[in-house]
Amino acid sequence: MKVLVCGGAGYIGSHTCVALIEQGQEVVIYDNLCRGTLAAVDHVRQLSGAQVRFVQGDVRDRGTLETLLATGFHAVIHFAALKIMSESCQYPLAYFDNNVTGTVALLQAMRATGVQQLVFSSSAAVYGDPETVPITEEAPLRASNPYSHTKLVMEQLIGEVCDARPSFSAAILRYFNPAGAHPSGLMGEDPCGLPTNLMPYVSQVAAGMHPRLSVFGGDYPTRDGTGVRDYIHVMDLADAHVRALDVLQHGGCHVLNLGTGRGYSVLEVIAAFERVSGCRIPYEIVARRVGDVAEVWADTSRAEKALGWHAQYDLLRMCADAWRWQSMHPQGCQSSQPIEAQRQASIG
Ligand code: NAD
Ligand code: WQD
Repeated sequence: MKVLVCGGAGYIGSHTCVALIEQGQEVVIYDNLCRGTLAAVDHVRQLSGAQVRFVQGDVRDRGTLETLLATGFHAVIHFAALKIMSESCQYPLAYFDNNVTGTVALLQAMRATGVQQLVFSSSAAVYGDPETVPITEEAPLRASNPYSHTKLVMEQLIGEVCDARPSFSAAILRYFNPAGAHPSGLMGEDPCGLPTNLMPYVSQVAAGMHPRLSVFGGDYPTRDGTGVRDYIHVMDLADAHVRALDVLQHGGCHVLNLGTGRGYSVLEVIAAFERVSGCRIPYEIVARRVGDVAEVWADTSRAEKALGWHAQYDLLRMCADAWRWQSMHPQGCQSSQPIEAQRQASIG
């Protein structure tokens, strides 16, 4: 199969490219590098040993996408999006434009060129504050910020395209909390600016880049008072994407949770990271972060059945791999900038 990977120069996309090539697929990476890096593309080539083609372009550029897709592709995997919740509250228009307009243009280009299979990156963010855990795919959808709204709108759009065109099939994959890195330590999560997610922040504290971690809230109704999440290794996510492409051969629109089915608290993540890194992670419990919820973990039974998949890696392995990446890239590889910096440079 020949697969176009939009957003393949980013964190999850680059790991998925390596997994796809290992399974014999041909990959072309399409990315505007607003958040991804050429270093990630090089690492995909290095780890896979393949001459991977990279095209720098924006998913909102329908013309370029059409020209590219017309060269003959079986499927598209669509990772390309802005993903920082707090940033989306400041710049809702930029988020809708990038994420939703981009997805509309991509779907139009796919229709024009007869490419009928799509794997789409969605998020557990679409569930908002869940009534119960574990969360099944049938749980009410309650997006509570612009980023999550964009994911909901894109999910609905893709579902409606599937309804309108039975020949079109899609897998909508709702990731819980991606973490970890490639076991080689070459590729990993390279946040743009100060990390907003827990695992990269913990890694950077362990590396001495920040004096301590702020733990957002110690009074949640959880086993130790801190927030509980379902962390999933990026290599497990990559494997699920490879399998999703197989499932799409049989058609349909599949909405699947991707998690481990197990939740860990912030203090448990800190303890696991200290254990594998041998570093102390100083922390201080501060006020809750606005918009955070107490506990989130997935019911993964639908994905396990549909994909013949379940997560292989545990929290210790996620921390060990994240730490290897951090140790090998003390300054990261990022060349991208937050929206405000892009605007000031008149390129955003
Ligand atoms: P990332 O920022 O590392 O990767 C996204 C990639 O898309 C980047 O390389 C960026 O340059 C590219 N991109 C963004 N807008 C683009 C555009 N208009 N045109 C072309 N390329 C564009 O993020 P990631 O963590 O790899 O996330 C991948 C996908 O998974 C995103 O859709 C994100 O919303 C979703 N997701 C991520 C998480 C997470 O915590 N990492 C959780 C749930 C869902
Ligand atoms: C995890 C836990 C925080 C940072 C977000 C999005 C979700 C998905 C993944 C895109 C929480 C706590 C965090 C810190 C802390 N992304 N924490 N100190 O909020 O579960 O999910 O990223 O789709 O949609 O919502 O992930 O890693 O930010 O937080 O105490 O410096 O760690 O309060 O309990 P979250 P996270």
